[in-house]
Amino acid sequence: MCGIVGYVGPRQATSILIDGLRRMEYRGYDSAGVAVLNGKGIKVQKAEGKLSALVEKIGQETIEGTVGIGHTRWATHGAPTTPNAHPHISGDGRIAIIHNGIVENASSIKKALTQRGHTFASATDTEVLAHLIGEYYQGSLEEAVAAALRDVDGAYGIAVVSADEPDVVVAARKGSPLLVGVGDGEWFVASDASAILEHTRSVVYLDDGEMVVLTRVGYRVRTLEVSRIEKPVNQIEWDLATIERGGYPHFMLKEIFEQPESIENTLRGHLLHEEGSARLSGLNLTDEYLGQMERIIITACGTSWHSALIGEYMLEEMARISVEVEYASEFRYRSPIVDNKTLVIAISQSGETADTLAAIREAKRRGARTVGLVNVVGSTIAREVDGGLYLRAGPEVGVASTKAFTCQVAALALVTLRFARLRHLSVLEGRTFIDALQRIPALIQSILDRAPEIEALAKRCEDATNALYLGRGVNFPVALEGALKLKEISYIHAEGYPAAEMKHGPIALIDENMPVIFIAPKDAVHSKIVSNIEEVKARGGKVIALITEGDTEIEQLADATFPIPETLDLLSPLLTGVPLQLLSYYVAVRRGCNVDQPRNLAKSVTVE
Ligand code: M6R
Repeated sequence: MCGIVGYVGPRQATSILIDGLRRMEYRGYDSAGVAVLNGKGIKVQKAEGKLSALVEKIGQETIEGTVGIGHTRWATHGAPTTPNAHPHISGDGRIAIIHNGIVENASSIKKALTQRGHTFASATDTEVLAHLIGEYYQGSLEEAVAAALRDVDGAYGIAVVSADEPDVVVAARKGSPLLVGVGDGEWFVASDASAILEHTRSVVYLDDGEMVVLTRVGYRVRTLEVSRIEKPVNQIEWDLATIERGGYPHFMLKEIFEQPESIENTLRGHLLHEEGSARLSGLNLTDEYLGQMERIIITACGTSWHSALIGEYMLEEMARISVEVEYASEFRYRSPIVDNKTLVIAISQSGETADTLAAIREAKRRGARTVGLVNVVGSTIAREVDGGLYLRAGPEVGVASTKAFTCQVAALALVTLRFARLRHLSVLEGRTFIDALQRIPALIQSILDRAPEIEALAKRCEDATNALYLGRGVNFPVALEGALKLKEISYIHAEGYPAAEMKHGPIALIDENMPVIFIAPKDAVHSKIVSNIEEVKARGGKVIALITEGDTEIEQLADATFPIPETLDLLSPLLTGVPLQLLSYYVAVRRGCNVDQPRNLAKSVTVE
């Protein structure tokens, strides 16, 4: 996730900006930059990669000046290169901007600006905004920013400086956090309190639609329309270490709680409600190709393989296309039957998993078209596929994948919708699917609000040596994922099974010491899973069941239940997956495990 810091005061800005950016490194980023007003104009310095690369560049050419802005970028539009790094400057070079978020109508604004003679040096939406502010500038930076933001759709946290107003930083927010730091004769703006905490604990939190103007004599909060509003100054009491994880004790918990926002980001800009379809131009697949496509192979590893299985259920049921899901490590070494009518979809959070990358290369060699559903922009898989869709989950730091999983499922739902509308799905069915998808973030939030109930359930599992996760249909892969999460971070042996398969073997394991976790929403196979629960209970097993709210039948059978809200059957993994993430988390914490960095595991498996 990108980071913003800005400074106006008596001290040299560059080192304050770099220290602030360093404090936000934990959020993940792939390039960094600063813009400092040095009395003669704006000095911009930026670099791809880690902050040390930027520091090295700056070291060769010291930037003097006491007003400036700094940014760490986590790529969403355009690869993580130096030209795409922030700050970006206006056409005349007099204005510099840093930006978190996504300008959704950037392409239409860019088109209009291009027609008026603007040329662009990067592939970013932010540079478009810089040019737009430059066009509006008539002697007042704050008015130019306000005017430009009235034209913008989407989310932003921005900070802007102008060579013509050397004592001013203007910042604004809508949908992306921003706060003002009130120091002693100096003022800051930051997207994250950790960036400024060593200088001041007094902060003003900006709300959506608000702007701030920092000058050498103070700060003024305003809205796009009203030139001054009053805001309270708050005192931060948390320590730095806590703030870097946003107040959460672990990154994994933070990332679990980010899911309502991350799924919104995955869906943003892709849904076409009127047409009941999805706009996915990045896939680079023509309607003609999709008409001729005969089958799909989805390839991935680990958690991404589980989301691929969910995609198989979605695509086959809604788009009526034959789908196979392959472990990338297997696909690459067998002799897969693949031709130019086969679409191979690779799913990967990191975009660097060696087996998935090799599978894609093998598929291309055999003439298939390839598509990537990848989180990390500019990663190798993202670069090598013929087309793709970024997950926009934000950086995932915890080794156990959580928010990337649900964003992968949301991305597969988008792909399914697009393919299904070209084949069998009616516009009305498409709209119903979109409505249900758009409700998912709020439904996840309602589950997260009940996290303490899951924490209580964790006590029932913490002493187990084995656990069994059972689900049917589209919730069978959720059972696999639930089991993987538990074993990864708590080191309890866990298996995921299709519920009906239990009687073909695993039933022998059932006793009063092994928790059996059923994923049992009220879907088309509900009555079948009720029978499976009875089979476990008849053998003295202890059942914890995820059920649909109001399901009294399973409530009476199970030892403990956790209700989830209703949604479409095919979208239920987006809800059922979340309490299972929380369950593993709380079990691991109770067992004293290193949740964010479990033993033997790497975040990105770049070796075979
Ligand atoms: O980055 P990728 O999605 O390609 O990674 C695939 C697996 O290595 C990954 O999902 C792994 O299973 C995680 N530790 C799961 O939590």
